[in-house]
Amino acid sequence: MAAKERCEVCHDDGNAIIHVDCATHTYPDGTKGIHDMCFSVYPKEIVALCGPNGSGKSTLLEHLNGLMVPDVGRIRVFGKDVDKSNLSSVRRVVGLVFQDADSQLFSPTVMDDVMFGPLNLGLSVEEAKERAERALGVVGISDTGKIPHNLSGGQKRLVAIAGVLAMDPKILVVDEPTGDLDPSNARKIEHLLKSLRTEHGISVVIALHDIDMAARLADRVCIVKDGGIIAEGTPEDVLYNEALLTSAGLQLPTVARIFKSMGLESAEGNKPLTIEDLTQLMRDSFQRRD
Ligand SMILES: Nc1ncnc2c1ncn2[C@@H]1O[C@H](COP(=O)(O)OP(=O)(O)O)[C@@H](O)[C@H]1O
Ligand SMILES: [Mg+2]
Repeated sequence: MAAKERCEVCHDDGNAIIHVDCATHTYPDGTKGIHDMCFSVYPKEIVALCGPNGSGKSTLLEHLNGLMVPDVGRIRVFGKDVDKSNLSSVRRVVGLVFQDADSQLFSPTVMDDVMFGPLNLGLSVEEAKERAERALGVVGISDTGKIPHNLSGGQKRLVAIAGVLAMDPKILVVDEPTGDLDPSNARKIEHLLKSLRTEHGISVVIALHDIDMAARLADRVCIVKDGGIIAEGTPEDVLYNEALLTSAGLQLPTVARIFKSMGLESAEGNKPLTIEDLTQLMRDSFQRRD
């Protein structure tokens, strides 16, 4: 990995727990998965990476725990450059959940699967079981003797998340976790990610093309296009910027579309992100008109 001189675009303010410093990754066929990528993760935040298919979200995520290494630039986790010598400690603090849960589950039972990571850390069977039970409790899976292969898509995803949580990570990285799930399981994952941030102090990095979910979930939104981040900020700022979203092949969240089309934008600068906030603003507006 060739370390660049200080990147002029990225600025690591010292508060980031992960800093991607102007990283480029070229696949063997010459495709650049990410290009001059600058990205940071801060403590106890949910940061959403939104971009169309092929924009570089998965490539970036796989750099965050050292699964991939950049050919140019570097990745710092808790202030240390990621390299071969510290890969295992990086993977202990940065847990990655793949888009395809099947590729993450391979043990004969759910319990074995979730215990695998802690056992690999060198914990005793009792300690590993304790951690696995705790992690499965957090995600709400009780049928621990089941064969992972026979679980539903939503349950597989929850078990995959439990497997990562059992390692006690400081940062959870999840790739399109709800794309193939029904609305009820998708909501369950969404609530779980929120509670990990709020109740367990874990930072969550999530790749999404579901802009509605980004609006409901994220503290910060980064728009990914052509292997780089073209804009970032609060969901109110980024997800109400129609020109920006359109230029990245995305569209306004449903809530923002309704809000704008009803002409509810006001001097107070309200920008609702959830159905609940939107309906409250509509009620207020109708009451004012009465
Ligand atoms: N193994 C690979 N070999 C070659 N090109 C790849 C490979 N994986 C991804 N790419 C390319 O890298 C770019 C970014 O892909 P990816 O990170 O998967 O995007 P996203 O997750 O946003 O859909 C795309 O152009 C994609 O075709
Ligand atoms: Mg992807």
